[in-house]
Amino acid sequence: MQLVEVTAGYGRIPVLDGVNLELQAGDIYALLGPNGGGKSTTLKVCSRQIGISTGELRVSGQSMEGINPEILSKVGICTIPEGKGIFPNLSVQENLVVMTHTGAELDEIETATFDRFPQLATRRKQLAGTLSGGEQQMLAMSRALGTNPKILLLDELSMGLAPKIVKDLYEIVHQISEEGIGVLVVEQFARTVLGVSNKAGIMINGKIVREGDPNELEEELSAAYLGRREKDRSEQ
Ligand SMILES: Nc1ncnc2c1ncn2[C@@H]1O[C@H](COP(=O)(O)OP(=O)(O)OP(=O)(O)O)[C@@H](O)[C@H]1O
Ligand SMILES: [Mg+2]
Repeated sequence: MQLVEVTAGYGRIPVLDGVNLELQAGDIYALLGPNGGGKSTTLKVCSRQIGISTGELRVSGQSMEGINPEILSKVGICTIPEGKGIFPNLSVQENLVVMTHTGAELDEIETATFDRFPQLATRRKQLAGTLSGGEQQMLAMSRALGTNPKILLLDELSMGLAPKIVKDLYEIVHQISEEGIGVLVVEQFARTVLGVSNKAGIMINGKIVREGDPNELEEELSAAYLGRREKDRSEQ
């Protein structure tokens, strides 16, 4: 997947200002940066929740111009929407049943889910809304992966979760990438995601101002910026 010189925004308010980004099979690309920089907007462009003003989104070299968002999941781009995209009033199992609308068999979905997240297997009958935050994120990831995506878009996976759980979830993200899925991760909890990613970019005011090796970028990100974020989290 590629973004080429993309500009996009909301109504007449521009946000993205010439974004170039490339994600290959098996990549974990960490898109970092301060609040309001345009990270979530970038993911919305990739999942076609919002349109592009100029520039292009390409998947496997093909422009996605005019492609219906519903077709995107068939192209293989899958996102976990805000609110995690799970049904809180349905059980874990019922959430998985809903996924069969994509044509997959329930047996296959269950096997894939419970192999990846054994913790969910013991919670089959529990209402999704009463799962722990980390378990809800596991269910959300299972639902996203049920469509066999080539690309997974993750926005603030760590939101509201304890650092240990975030670390475990990113281990699973790493396993997912090893299956050949490209993952674009937006995150403020920078250190953990930099630890598993192979590419990183810093977005400020709608532009990727720096891109490169995650280790180098971690050093470059100002101690104040990273230090403050991690400290905030550990105090939560
Ligand atoms: N639906 C919307 N309508 C109008 N403006 C929006 C909308 N969503 C986001 N914006 C604006 O676009 C800019 C970029 O927002 P975006 O959500 O992409 O930032 P972000 O990098 O994800 O920030 P954060 O780290 O705080 O999540 C912000 O100024 C924001 O106020
Ligand atoms: Mg955001």
